[in-house]
Amino acid sequence: MDASVLAQVLRELPPIDDPNVLVGTSTADDAGVYKLRDDLALVQTVDFFTPIVDDPYTFGAIAAANALSDVYAMGGRPINALAIAAFPEDMDPRTIGAVLRGGADKAREAGINIIGGHTIKDDEPKYGLSVTGVIHPDRVLRNSTAVPGDVLLLTKPIGTGILTTARRSDRIGEEAMAEAIASMIALNRAAAEALDGCAVHAATDVTGFGLLGHLREMVAGANAGAEILAAQVPLLHGALELASLGVAPGGSKMNLANALADGVTFDDAVEEAMRLLLADAQTSGGLLVAIAADDAERYQTQAAARGVRAAAIGTIVARPGLRVR
Ligand code: CO
Ligand code: CO
Repeated sequence: MDASVLAQVLRELPPIDDPNVLVGTSTADDAGVYKLRDDLALVQTVDFFTPIVDDPYTFGAIAAANALSDVYAMGGRPINALAIAAFPEDMDPRTIGAVLRGGADKAREAGINIIGGHTIKDDEPKYGLSVTGVIHPDRVLRNSTAVPGDVLLLTKPIGTGILTTARRSDRIGEEAMAEAIASMIALNRAAAEALDGCAVHAATDVTGFGLLGHLREMVAGANAGAEILAAQVPLLHGALELASLGVAPGGSKMNLANALADGVTFDDAVEEAMRLLLADAQTSGGLLVAIAADDAERYQTQAAARGVRAAAIGTIVARPGLRVR
């Protein structure tokens, strides 16, 4: 859903007054966190969507990686998941099986099992997971607790919305999708584990609201601002060229309109296509973390040792607002 509409709808819900709810709907965070004991809390999230790639097995795996990501973004360790799926009545059972197998294999890679689920009939296929994780209540990584001076690091390139849209309209071939698919299918587990020992103040993952949208949630929660260096943001190959041709999902264009309405400023040197790309709705995007400046390099080193490139893309500043240079 559009971020501004969702925020409006959520405001109309009754307030949550259960003291065991450590993270609820008030902070636009990645997952709910519910305290069971002083040393144990559940991290709970759900995510599903329509097919974004041609191959059903790959779709299932990406959907699972995407759903698991919200647990990693909270600092949690997944323990199990439930599947949520919708398939057309006339769909080949082998195709359905491939989607479910893709999800199950990705869950196994994350060290968990899918222990149940629910399916319905629908004209448009949909698949995803509800993931449960565990965390120590004192170690919850919120998206709202960044501190001025923190370095912002991003662990995957952006542009998956633009590339999948281009593929859907046959503007690019399947081979041009390889980099985007490899990125979307990769778990954020290694990027999260690499945070070990670093002074990380806030974390989220970049998904439907785009880099700018998730960063806006981060700075709004912290009553701070951020400066982004556009040239430092890692991009998927081909995404900028496609953006300059106006190829982007409606959600990405809406994200950019929301960013502008919210007062995000761009230096003149930041071209239109780049602005759209920075707002591009991501599927299974990377972690966006705010780390004390002294520890930024340490995180990059620990991430690299796990095969993850963490790009330093900007800083948290005291003055509210988001500026892209
Ligand atoms: Co998220
Ligand atoms: Co989500």
